Amino acid sequence: MESVGDYISKHKQRFLDELFNLLKIPSVSADSAFAQDVVNAAQAVANFLSDAGCDTVEVCETNGYPIVYGEKIIDPNAPTVLVYGHYDVQPADPVDLWHSPAFEPVVRTTDLHPDGAIFARGASDDKGQMFMHIKALEFMVENNLLPCNVKFMIEGEEEVGSESLGEFVKENHHKLANDIILISDTGMIANDIPSITTGLRGLSYVEVEVTGPNRDLHSGLYGGAVANPINILTGMIASLHDENNHITIPGFYDKVEELSKEEREVMNQAPFNLEAYKKALDIDGVYGEKSYTTNERNSIRPTLDVNGIWGGYTGEGAKTVIPSKAYAKISMRLVPHQDWNEITDLFTTHFKNIAPAGVRVKVTPHHGGQSYVTPIDSIGYQAASKAYEATFGKVPIPKRNGGSIPIVPLFEDELGSKSILMGFGLDSNAIHSPNEHLAVWNFLKGIETIPYFYKYFTEMSSS
Ligand code: BES
Ligand code: MN
Ligand code: MN
Repeated sequence: MESVGDYISKHKQRFLDELFNLLKIPSVSADSAFAQDVVNAAQAVANFLSDAGCDTVEVCETNGYPIVYGEKIIDPNAPTVLVYGHYDVQPADPVDLWHSPAFEPVVRTTDLHPDGAIFARGASDDKGQMFMHIKALEFMVENNLLPCNVKFMIEGEEEVGSESLGEFVKENHHKLANDIILISDTGMIANDIPSITTGLRGLSYVEVEVTGPNRDLHSGLYGGAVANPINILTGMIASLHDENNHITIPGFYDKVEELSKEEREVMNQAPFNLEAYKKALDIDGVYGEKSYTTNERNSIRPTLDVNGIWGGYTGEGAKTVIPSKAYAKISMRLVPHQDWNEITDLFTTHFKNIAPAGVRVKVTPHHGGQSYVTPIDSIGYQAASKAYEATFGKVPIPKRNGGSIPIVPLFEDELGSKSILMGFGLDSNAIHSPNEHLAVWNFLKGIETIPYFYKYFTEMSSS
């Protein structure tokens, strides 16, 4: 398959132009002000799938944003790869911190990427990575190299919990039947240290509201005599970790998978440069659960983090006030065997229990999802490993990741197939942050690597 490199050099500029057109659509699923843009992005993806050679393409309506489905069936007896990705993106805020507007993609060089990176919201998560699969399909169809059947399922609600996709998957077992699910929505360790994601953490996301007096009060007249919801809330939050940074919610760790010493040793052999890590984040030290390394803390251990906290007066100047209410959004990242619904219940019970007299506590669960792990001795993993080896010249390292893609475990439950997480992004891509980017090199490397997955997976499936 020597010609994939040639094909990419020849069409590189068009690939970038097409991706830019997709990146220009502000498909922010969390903000209803962008509802029409999200729908427009779905249509754009559908058009790209048709152009790339899918025989059937549908924009499937749901109660939320549409799911774009496309397929090319070459032989009912051949294996079927189902590609999953998402065309929705995170909000661009804080917009002031972008060096160029989030929805006006540009290629700029960086210290890490002197050959250029694409800057735009969604460049890495996930439009840029999802688009690699469309261009890889185009290459295979154009050159008569597609060795198996392919189905695409691209959703528009990943960043808000994939609710409609969950329904869609449950109702479409036959349509979505496949031998392996292929996803590029994660990252690698570094461009010279390719890795394949073998695990994702689960998630429980809740919002809490602490209410004190029935109105904001003068902090002089009432201060000291009435519970201040912000003081109370921050104290309650602080108590959720002990001095070893263990989470204090009773039962929280009961089902946590404890890895053997050997497994942890293997895991800690993955290259990690603490100094570079600290430098990239401008921090003078790392922080986390006692007795675990940074790589363990962000992958095999559960966490609890406040994502946002507000209440009271935050405008200019000073206003002396005891607020009536205080709020926080809290996420818990979960590991194998922890059930997200159970953890949400444990949190809710505990948080209400620790509230002192004088305040009322409301806990509202948001979305969540289970964790995921995939073995490395499967055909799917081995095919992916060989594909990276073919284009990176190195056997990729298996690595569990700290992020979550809650729909992946649901795919396994509903469709009975494993997902292979062939990510081509980097942690430094600033996904969800200002100045999200994807190096042009990674974009093209992904397109180059994917056809090898199809080749090896088909070969290994038939032998
Ligand atoms: N693609 C990310 C998840 C990810 C990124 C996993 C990098 C591993 C490495 C996905 O779009 C995402 O942001 N997921 C959310 C969860 C979702 C329910 C909002 C997350 O992890 O916070
Ligand atoms: Mn994503
Ligand atoms: Mn994301």
